[in-house]
Amino acid sequence: MQKKYRKPFIAGNWKMNMKPSEVKPFMAKLAEVMPRKRECEVAICVPYPLLPAAIAATKKIGVRVGAQNMSQFERGAHTGEVSLEMLLDLGVKYVILGHSERRADNGETDYLVNAKAKAALASGICPIICVGESEEEHTRGLTMERIAYQVKAALWGMEASEVRKVVIAYEPIWAIGTGKTATAEQAQEVCSRIRKMIRGLYDGRIARAVRIQYGGSMNEKNAKELLSMPDIDGGLIGGASLKPESFAAIIAATAQD
Ligand code: 13P
Repeated sequence: MQKKYRKPFIAGNWKMNMKPSEVKPFMAKLAEVMPRKRECEVAICVPYPLLPAAIAATKKIGVRVGAQNMSQFERGAHTGEVSLEMLLDLGVKYVILGHSERRADNGETDYLVNAKAKAALASGICPIICVGESEEEHTRGLTMERIAYQVKAALWGMEASEVRKVVIAYEPIWAIGTGKTATAEQAQEVCSRIRKMIRGLYDGRIARAVRIQYGGSMNEKNAKELLSMPDIDGGLIGGASLKPESFAAIIAATAQD
């Protein structure tokens, strides 16, 4: 479906890497190596303690900052949790939800992902909702079943006006941090099916507006091919977002010739 309706979106996911003191030098280097004229939106999603430094260091370089999780509760007696209000107050624009690592390490369910996504949208923070099949589901041909379930559950009960703001990241679990990337055709096939699903659940206008990223060992070598696919609107980048040069090269790859 036509790409002209959507601005490409490259987001880094630092996961549990880097320290607060490393943020400023990283962003300074990124500003130096990143293309000045960009055809995409760029964000970096960092661990909570790095948020203030990341927001301060990205103000002048046109990079937005995201969190990697948030609480589904508003405030109060929830030890160890971080609220939306806190993220908003800092100036956070995005939040990654339902990453497969959180689903695996913290037992996050589709129900929880849906509740958090709705709360984020209501507050004005844009959720990046991750979906993806396991290696076993992939080899058994169950990819689309898994993805359909996760997408429907994540969007359950959302108004069309909210869904158009959502970013969906298709991240096959077997491709995360493994160096095994889905081929551009495989990733395109799944992203196109996700878009069709959204068209079925809402309508063509909403489906055209929703941005779908690919994530899983995306790097400066494979980014151009993946990003040239008609339904892949950007990337959610793990390992390669920790190196300013690699991340900048992926950003540059959104410029299609
Ligand atoms: P890698 O790019 O390190 O494979 O990680 C992808 C990912 O999980 C981004 O959220």
